[in-house]
Amino acid sequence: MLKVLSIFLGLLAFSCAASLYLDEVSTTTVPATCLFEDEMWGAEDMRKFYFCWDNVPIESECDVGYYFVKNATDYGCLPAKLMNPECVNLDVTVGPCTGNNLLQPQVSEVLTDFWLCPEEGADPVQLTCPENKVFVKQDGYLGCFDWQTYRSVRGCPAQ
Ligand SMILES: *[C@@H]1O[C@H](CO)[C@@H](O)[C@H](O)[C@H]1NC(C)=O
Repeated sequence: MLKVLSIFLGLLAFSCAASLYLDEVSTTTVPATCLFEDEMWGAEDMRKFYFCWDNVPIESECDVGYYFVKNATDYGCLPAKLMNPECVNLDVTVGPCTGNNLLQPQVSEVLTDFWLCPEEGADPVQLTCPENKVFVKQDGYLGCFDWQTYRSVRGCPAQ
């Protein structure tokens, strides 16, 4: 079982290395200038948004389970169930620790978390990605990646 865990941790390390490289290209820091003077605007990280105060962008975050949306119909922090389903993990059932679940981590409703089976028949353990990373298990991606990668793999573009 340790072998499975170390393979997964290896994958994690790899995805972190991959996303470290991406970080050099795309920064997730607060923008230097205000995009809007009197409106909020969204960040790559779906939980976060910015507003302008005295010409300085201020970063803020939605409550847990809420995500920032700004489009033709919605503006503000929406609960996960009102989000585009491509963007969130709704009604997640965490499977028992047998079969495939022993080999691969499982998604969590908390986007920055994932579930891991320590051994056959154990209770799955909920773990959290490193800071500013989000769990992706889709289209060959498996591990913790930056939000830009998450959005592109999930088909959930930033507004
Ligand atoms: C705006 O975003 C919300 C949440 O993702 C979505 O449900 C809604 O359909 C979107 N509206 C438009 C016009 O794209």
